[in-house]
Amino acid sequence: MKVAIIGLGVVGYGAYEIIRDELAPEIEVKYVMDLRPFEEIPCIHAKDINQIVSDPEVDVVVESIGGLHPAYEFITASLKAGKSVVTANKHLISKYYKELYQLSHETGACLQYTPSAGGGIPWLHNLTRTRRCGAIESFSGIINGTTNYILDNMTRTGAAFEPTLKRAQELGYAEADPSADIDGLDVQRKCAISANRAFDAVISPDDIPTAGIRYITDADIAAFQARGLVCRLICHGAGKDGKVSAYVEPTLFAADTLEANVPDNNNLITLVGKYVGRLSFYGQGAGRYPTAHSMVEDIVDIHVGWARDPKLTGAATVDNSAVCHKYYVRGADLAFLGDLAREKMGDGVVTAPVSVEKMHALAAEQLGRGNQVFFAGFDA
Ligand SMILES: NC(=O)c1ccc[n+]([C@@H]2O[C@H](COP(=O)([O-])OP(=O)(O)OC[C@H]3O[C@@H](n4cnc5c(N)ncnc54)[C@H](OP(=O)(O)O)[C@@H]3O)[C@@H](O)[C@H]2O)c1
Repeated sequence: MKVAIIGLGVVGYGAYEIIRDELAPEIEVKYVMDLRPFEEIPCIHAKDINQIVSDPEVDVVVESIGGLHPAYEFITASLKAGKSVVTANKHLISKYYKELYQLSHETGACLQYTPSAGGGIPWLHNLTRTRRCGAIESFSGIINGTTNYILDNMTRTGAAFEPTLKRAQELGYAEADPSADIDGLDVQRKCAISANRAFDAVISPDDIPTAGIRYITDADIAAFQARGLVCRLICHGAGKDGKVSAYVEPTLFAADTLEANVPDNNNLITLVGKYVGRLSFYGQGAGRYPTAHSMVEDIVDIHVGWARDPKLTGAATVDNSAVCHKYYVRGADLAFLGDLAREKMGDGVVTAPVSVEKMHALAAEQLGRGNQVFFAGFDA
């Protein structure tokens, strides 16, 4: 099998090394393409995508440049030419899921993206395998290492948010612009990808109500600890009777739960299957070799003919009106909660059980007015 790798950065170069050291000559990198020369790599250095897609020997194109464009153009050109595609690009897969899925079906090419949600953890692989033999009832978990590092360190050391974020940036866990992580957008994309896989759905990230941890304080964390609770940023998805609920929010867990004990930048993602029950997957959700390994596993799956065929017959909208639980809410003015507020907790209040739909709508309205509200749901 011949492979082309586009983008020799953190993940792409790692994939090149694993194929070279572990899989050649059965699987070989015939082309690489990057903005930089990488002269030490002894294969054809493609000048453009046409050189790759017009070569009948190329079976798989690995897209590891990231971003929407030109990654979208490279992937669609590959699929149209009948080349299978492997990518870790959660932004692109979550945005163009339906179109890319349909294109791959029309041309018979495979589209694999296991590392796009869960990085090194074969989460989507196992979600898909489990789905083949019975419904997935729900999934939930920690799927962003940056925010878990921040929350875990604030909990263990009592440090404030800003210095902990700065430390995460120094360690390379957080980007210079950390918005996608701390505002929950990265989790939102992975939640959409997971929900589509779990429930045969076609939902878009924008349909998933999302709250991040930008406004969490060390005083919030101390109030949680005083009640034996630990805060984690969680993606939630559930499917029943053709309806899908999906949302992303900081969530409070009892201190002895698995989620509360996930250290540093690790991930923990759990599914509940109709027959298999509860299954949890733990490991590194990012990093060169864990992510590249997951990428190469996808290539091997294509090589051995491991077919994945979600049906896309499920929900196209998200409905969180029936999911209710209590919330911790803090903000300069909590009058907007009306009679939902039940008791004081630290600098904030605990609400009566309220639907996820209503709580996110209330908070979004306040944030839109510049009222910096932080909220976290209680684990049901
Ligand atoms: N890093 C992780 O741990 C991780 C984990 C999970 C998923 N991912 C996903 O994996 C993908 C790649 O991430 P990464 O961290 O490996 O990124 P990266 O280190 O920035 O690598 C991207 C590479 O692609 C090159 N490139 C950019 N535009 C190009 C173009 N038009 N043509 C050819 N090459 C181009 C870049 O060159 P220059 O450096 O010269 O710009 C760079 O070498 C992203 O979608 C990301 O979300 C990454």
